[in-house]
Amino acid sequence: MKKIMPSNYEMWGKPKFEGKSFLEFSQDLISVSSLAASSHNTQPWRFVVSEKSQSITLKLNDERVLSASDVNKRQAIISCGCALENMRVALDYHGVKYSLTINSDISSETIAEIKIHDNLAIKKNKQLQTIFDSIFTRRVNRSKCTDKKVPDEFLDLIMKDEYGLEIRTIKDMVTKNAISEIQEQADRFVLGNDKFRKELGEWLLPNSTDSYLGMPGSTFGLKDVEAEKIHKQLLSGKLDYDLASGVAVSDRQRIQTSPLLLVITGKDTKEDWIKTGCLWQKIALIAESMGISVAVSAAIVEVPLLSKMMSVRLGTTSRPLMITTIGYATEERPHSPRLPVSQLISFTD
Ligand SMILES: Cc1cc2nc3c(=O)[nH]c(=O)nc-3n(C[C@H](O)[C@H](O)[C@H](O)COP(=O)(O)O)c2cc1C
Repeated sequence: MKKIMPSNYEMWGKPKFEGKSFLEFSQDLISVSSLAASSHNTQPWRFVVSEKSQSITLKLNDERVLSASDVNKRQAIISCGCALENMRVALDYHGVKYSLTINSDISSETIAEIKIHDNLAIKKNKQLQTIFDSIFTRRVNRSKCTDKKVPDEFLDLIMKDEYGLEIRTIKDMVTKNAISEIQEQADRFVLGNDKFRKELGEWLLPNSTDSYLGMPGSTFGLKDVEAEKIHKQLLSGKLDYDLASGVAVSDRQRIQTSPLLLVITGKDTKEDWIKTGCLWQKIALIAESMGISVAVSAAIVEVPLLSKMMSVRLGTTSRPLMITTIGYATEERPHSPRLPVSQLISFTD
């Protein structure tokens, strides 16, 4: 019997870009962008389409910035960078000529403007086929890793960085242990904050949720009963020491067991946040195309003292902007839901 896809997961289907008008093509691009990663799966983006200027403007959706855990909007803007990268991959794969302007003004909601320069005659770049296909299968996987090494070919591919950021690769156990300790402290620090816990409870949802946003507990490996319980517990705002310890310890173990740790560092500016999102999403797609799993942790980046400790540990003056574990996951994890394009798009002259 064919399984019926719940409507909050329908966006994971692949759109057909061929033979479309500019407006239809834009909607396909937006649907592909929205499959990107975002902190707490808030999908903090919106898109303004202009037929007259043949452009799509990607904007931050301020209403979906996490008020307790993302006071500087750093995580939301990095997430918008992830969405931008998916759009770039789709454009490059379909051989469409375009120009891209990143908006580095922190007071502006605009992230980037993409101007399409040709008549949408599709000339597919087959070399990008597997990366494009990976957009539809990618997901974060927070399970532990096996001890299988990540091939050098992966590092060769991700190190071709066009964004001018620094990527630190960590494989040795001593540094991984040190970072895993910093991670555990960061988790305990944020989970000790009442507002953070309540906010997490609003986004960490029961497995059968019909929400188009947020993270079903199954994406954390939680069974139905556990997911329901943790969701309620977090929402109640009460601190459960066992729960906080469980999260902190599992994050620490993931860092310790993953064969490779990547830290993207750069300047603490809107421009570098956007570029970090682009670079991270590119890394995630390359990993997906090679059957490698990735997971992210934002806690160190968001706790100033611990982010400083991380810089010191890495011997860099630049700021850690995204910390990622890379490896072969021990368990499969499901997709999380996505909003339909109709809720992300608006039109202008
Ligand atoms: C900027 C950013 C920060 C993130 N921070 C965390 C984090 O601290 N912990 C975590 O488990 N996942 C984190 N994630 C992963 C998101 O929760 C995940 O992308 C989202 O739930 C959507 O799921 P998907 O990427 O599998 O589609 C982060 C993702 C992004 C883009």
